[in-house]
Amino acid sequence: MAMEQDLVDRLRNVNFPGIDRDIVALGYVKGVRIEGDGFRIHVELSPTAAAARDEIEGRIHAELGQLGVQYDLDLRVQEPKPGAGVGGPAGQGRAEPAPEPDPLGYIPIKIAVSSGKGGVGKSTVAVNLALAFAKLGKRTGLLDVDIYGPSVPIMLGLEDEEPMLDEARQKLIPMERYDVKNMSIGYMVDRHTPVIWRGPMMTKAIDQLMRDVAWDGVEVLVFDLPPGTGDVQLSLAQKVRLSGAVVVTTPQDVALVDAGRGVAMFEKTDVRVLGIVENMSYFLCPDCGGRHFIFGEGGGQREATRLGVPFLGQIPIDARIGQGGDAGKPIVFEHPESPAADAFAEIAKSVLATVEG
Ligand SMILES: Nc1ncnc2c1ncn2[C@@H]1O[C@H](COP(=O)(O)OP(=O)(O)O)[C@@H](O)[C@H]1O
Ligand SMILES: [Mg+2]
Repeated sequence: MAMEQDLVDRLRNVNFPGIDRDIVALGYVKGVRIEGDGFRIHVELSPTAAAARDEIEGRIHAELGQLGVQYDLDLRVQEPKPGAGVGGPAGQGRAEPAPEPDPLGYIPIKIAVSSGKGGVGKSTVAVNLALAFAKLGKRTGLLDVDIYGPSVPIMLGLEDEEPMLDEARQKLIPMERYDVKNMSIGYMVDRHTPVIWRGPMMTKAIDQLMRDVAWDGVEVLVFDLPPGTGDVQLSLAQKVRLSGAVVVTTPQDVALVDAGRGVAMFEKTDVRVLGIVENMSYFLCPDCGGRHFIFGEGGGQREATRLGVPFLGQIPIDARIGQGGDAGKPIVFEHPESPAADAFAEIAKSVLATVEG
């Protein structure tokens, strides 16, 4: 907390060009918060201040650069209110560039699957939910943009494949398995060489995945997001008009706290939170059929209630989920009669009911 306040105090040294007021006093600094190893600083200028944007950006970096802390500067200019007229009397104002259209605007339903932390089963949920949508008769796509651990190729048994390019349209043709079209950042990189993504490279690769895939006819697109609340999630929420987000958690407190952060991020970016899925909720005893809540019972439901978002359901711990994931045979396909597959079907139904509302 102290550090965040320190940064705000530093920003009080940044004056608006040409006048003796600083950007904090002018109300342009909207937030400073800890993110990952550093800070995220959100500054929003009013439309009339657009011309000073670059100068202000330079001044902020000059002020904070000496501190030796890592930070991400999110500097935006607000959209002018309709009819406000920027840069001169009404009618003479320079036309503002229109906001970039959603590159995936042609897909009616777009659902992000996210989690506060890694390893909670986000990809497992994304893959099986996609299969469940397909089973409900929806033409379904799955886009894996988890730069830290793209696992869709393996989970669908496609890890040795490479997507083809439609030369004429300059579009990537998605892979297809179990009636699910899919594309993954994992197809684009050599899986034996760990990739250390630098910011611009990562943004470019993800932008390309958003723009250049021919999802012809897809009605429902499921995104497997990286864990956490970083740049990829934010930029996706800004670029693509999501129908909503599903947040995956496990019952442990640490995961629940992170899930809460994820929910907060989507709400801040005006993405509808479709609900929380609790994975690895209980161990289903193969012998007696009993449910053993080894991580405690009801955590996901309680967190959903606390956050005021729907609780979508519980997925049991089932060794066949792990085995199927490794073997490219998702449980919804391989064991459609299992309690886990039932749970995925129910979750898919309620998600569709909500977004099709
Ligand atoms: N309900 C479950 N029962 C058993 N194993 C699971 C379950 N959910 C996920 N796993 C296993 O846990 C590991 C992490 O899951 P994964 O979906 O890759 O998580 P994430 O995408 O959040 O990192 C994988 O090996 C997966 O097979
Ligand atoms: Mg994953």
